[in-house]
Amino acid sequence: MRLSRRIQGLPPYLFVQISRKIAEKKAKGEKVISFAIGDPDIPTPDSIVQRLCREAKVPANHRYPETYGLQEFRLAIAEWYGRRFGVVLDPETEVLPLIGSKEGIGHLAFCFIDPGDIALVPDPAYPVYAISTMFAGGESYVMPLTTDRGFLPDLEVIPPEVARRAKVMWLNYPNNPTGAVADLAFFEKVVAFARRYDLVVCHDAPYTEVAFDGYRPVSFLEVPGAKDVGLEFHSLSKSYNMTGWRVGMAVGNAQIRDALMRFKSNLDSGIPQAIQYAAIEALKGDQGCIEEHNAIYQRRRDRIIKVLQEIGLGATPPRASLYIWARIPDGYTSAEYATRLLDGAGVVVTPGTGYGTYGEGYIRLSLTAADSDIDEGLGRLRSWSKSQPPTPGKRPANNLT
Ligand SMILES: Cc1ncc(COP(=O)(O)O)c(C=O)c1O
Repeated sequence: MRLSRRIQGLPPYLFVQISRKIAEKKAKGEKVISFAIGDPDIPTPDSIVQRLCREAKVPANHRYPETYGLQEFRLAIAEWYGRRFGVVLDPETEVLPLIGSKEGIGHLAFCFIDPGDIALVPDPAYPVYAISTMFAGGESYVMPLTTDRGFLPDLEVIPPEVARRAKVMWLNYPNNPTGAVADLAFFEKVVAFARRYDLVVCHDAPYTEVAFDGYRPVSFLEVPGAKDVGLEFHSLSKSYNMTGWRVGMAVGNAQIRDALMRFKSNLDSGIPQAIQYAAIEALKGDQGCIEEHNAIYQRRRDRIIKVLQEIGLGATPPRASLYIWARIPDGYTSAEYATRLLDGAGVVVTPGTGYGTYGEGYIRLSLTAADSDIDEGLGRLRSWSKSQPPTPGKRPANNLT
């Protein structure tokens, strides 16, 4: 058997070692507490579940769906964008339902990247942007996201010859893993840059509804001209606790949307119709659940931040997203810190390097563990960190020299 080069080229899966250790601990009967996965623990609102149950009984929904989705669903998406962001979308040409946004993100590269082409990809980032670029034969040019720039890429430092060769730019705000947010002024610069270099901008925005302290994240498409250059990916996964339902959407530029639709129509047959109806229920129904969920996440965020600061990890409260991006003490790599924490306290966090080289020195904690687990996990983290010897690069607290 000879695997394709693209499969052989996949980077080693960072989480394999951690997953093995978790399995070993569980086999020994030890309780492991995970802050690793961004998968809401709160159930999908009942009205959405009820709608699925009703629609599952309708024979018309047992047949193949269309790749481009039910007209009613596309309309519900367009109306939701209008209500939420004031963005006007044509449901026929500017909206494409996806089998979860990951599916569309993964396939987009095949519509624009030929072997040797460049995609501008942030680092740290959701890994699918770089992997799909690699699958399509392209190269990723890394846009570092660093704390001094609020985890926004510096477009000025991208060499013009790289920008000219690049065909796609990936962005994601509110950001996974850093929790950073972007404003319209930043997106205006992105639109100007994309026009200058004839780039497709793909803005991945599954966390716009998970926000705190009254903050309301913006859509890239709110910027004048954004629709000329870009597509925005969105999802019901995090907004309505529907990660397991696999339903999302791409909206924006009609030509980009059409390319993705043509590609997808050769590979998949769309989203099961009963799920599309449940998604319509989510988008058109009472939106009160979003505030309720955000209040829960905000409480968790504050509890976690308090303990992280207490034990000396640098972390600022994110204004949006499901993640806390915490700076670990010098002297550990992210992977070492995560491994020691798992070994020593049975607590799982994600090493920052799982999201790229610029994730070194950080760990990511998710807000989606149950409250009781968060309390226990934080208690363990506190005692474990007290038991740690001072690390090589870290001056002991009582050393005044
Ligand atoms: C930044 C980002 N984009 C996309 C996704 C995929 O979401 P889904 O496929 O569930 O819509 C995730 C999931 O965690 C994510 O963090």
